Amino acid sequence: MRVAIAADHGGYDQKGSIADFIRSLGHEVIDFGPFSPDPVDYPDYADKVARAVSRGDADRGVLLCGTGLGMAITADKVPGVRAAAIQSIEFAELFREHNDGNVLALSGRFVGLESNQRLVRIFLETEASAEARHRTRVEKIMREDDPAFEGVDA
Ligand code: RB5
Repeated sequence: MRVAIAADHGGYDQKGSIADFIRSLGHEVIDFGPFSPDPVDYPDYADKVARAVSRGDADRGVLLCGTGLGMAITADKVPGVRAAAIQSIEFAELFREHNDGNVLALSGRFVGLESNQRLVRIFLETEASAEARHRTRVEKIMREDDPAFEGVDA
């Protein structure tokens, strides 16, 4: 798979190691930076990765900031993206199985490198469920991208 990655200064220390880990699993990494530990605004980097996934230039995205929260909030606003900040193995599995998540946001300040590597492996190796109930729900998530969709009770 082609995996887009980016960070802010809160995730910068782990970004290189996470990128190497993704390559060691046999995937291509597209690194959107930053390339120094200087402070940057996380929405700029979430945008780069989310749009790469949205365009189809990358199959999945991995983002690192202090908490993962700001990256996930930003990335999830880009059409076609299903992003979440994940800290546990179980949530990483369910994010793929139930939500068909395509952008994983990690915490560089509160979660260690080895734990984040485990989350990345699960994110990249777990298939989305083919069960109809989950596919239907993911399709319903994606209605929110459609400007013509007026809401469930409209
Ligand atoms: C930067 O200080 C911090 O706000 C950022 O890395 C992230 O945690 C935001 O959600």
